[in-house]
Amino acid sequence: MEDGIIVFDDAVDKENFFEKQAIARLSEKYRGFDRDAFLESLKKTELSEMDEANKAVGITKKFWWEPYIGKIENKPILEVGCGINYIVPYWLECGNDVIAIDACKESILLLRRVIEQAGLGRERIRLAVADARTIKLAETFDVVNINNVLHHIGDSRQVLSRLRPHLCDGGSLLIVEPNYYYPPRWIIETDVFNPFNFIKDYFVRNDLIEKGEKGVVFSDLRCALLDTGYEIIANPKDVNYLGYFSIYWMRQNSPLARMISNLDNLLFGWILPRIIAPFEYIVAVKK
Ligand SMILES: C[S@@+](CC[C@H](N)C(=O)[O-])C[C@H]1O[C@@H](n2cnc3c(N)ncnc32)[C@H](O)[C@@H]1O
Repeated sequence: MEDGIIVFDDAVDKENFFEKQAIARLSEKYRGFDRDAFLESLKKTELSEMDEANKAVGITKKFWWEPYIGKIENKPILEVGCGINYIVPYWLECGNDVIAIDACKESILLLRRVIEQAGLGRERIRLAVADARTIKLAETFDVVNINNVLHHIGDSRQVLSRLRPHLCDGGSLLIVEPNYYYPPRWIIETDVFNPFNFIKDYFVRNDLIEKGEKGVVFSDLRCALLDTGYEIIANPKDVNYLGYFSIYWMRQNSPLARMISNLDNLLFGWILPRIIAPFEYIVAVKK
């Protein structure tokens, strides 16, 4: 135990990148996050309505899983690479019992503070500093949720294999990841233009992306899921083709943000191919 949280022996040191993010940027974003702000933020489900902190989570539609598996209430949940956001507070708000792990101790400490700020009891949450590649718990969970984490870890198969025994029969693995081939992402992550990729250099220098991170190639991830013993039951794409790189820089709910969101939902989401979608969402179960 360190500072009242469990720290697994083999937890990796991800602190250089995420610690900087957690302390310098995220704690600033969550400064006014009290119970009212938390409850209010849950009502803003679309990207164009979200404030800066919520947009930064990289999930463009809140509660995206509900059309596939319904509302998740009163269940045991394992949150992997939890970071700091509304998701763990939301799980708690819905009566779930949560174990949340992250390789970055600073993130865990800040999440604990955010949970307190949101006025949520600490009795149904257990926080641990642990590595998703080696985690081994005695319990199984109805939901294992992993958002925007696999693209920071080279070997997705290792994580998927490790998580599978933690899923109970009929339980759901929820995944959200950015797509490597989404053009604005590809530009900042590709090695093709090295050492002259000044946009990528800017993003790395300003801690906007981790050095070496690569979005997910979804055809590979789908194969990895099948090979490690999962069946995919839903795999919607994110439709914010224009919105994801533009709305991020706009005021919450501005007319322009709403217009772009409508264009994405009514036009680009239909005509543009999945291969260049900003994100994909996956619900998988054990085979
Ligand atoms: C981009 S953040 C996403 C945080 C959160 N899931 C979200 O969607 O906002 C990636 C998180 O994964 C964590 N992470 C990276 N590698 C990890 C590993 N091997 N095991 C556990 N967590 C890891 C980082 O510390 C960071 O908090």
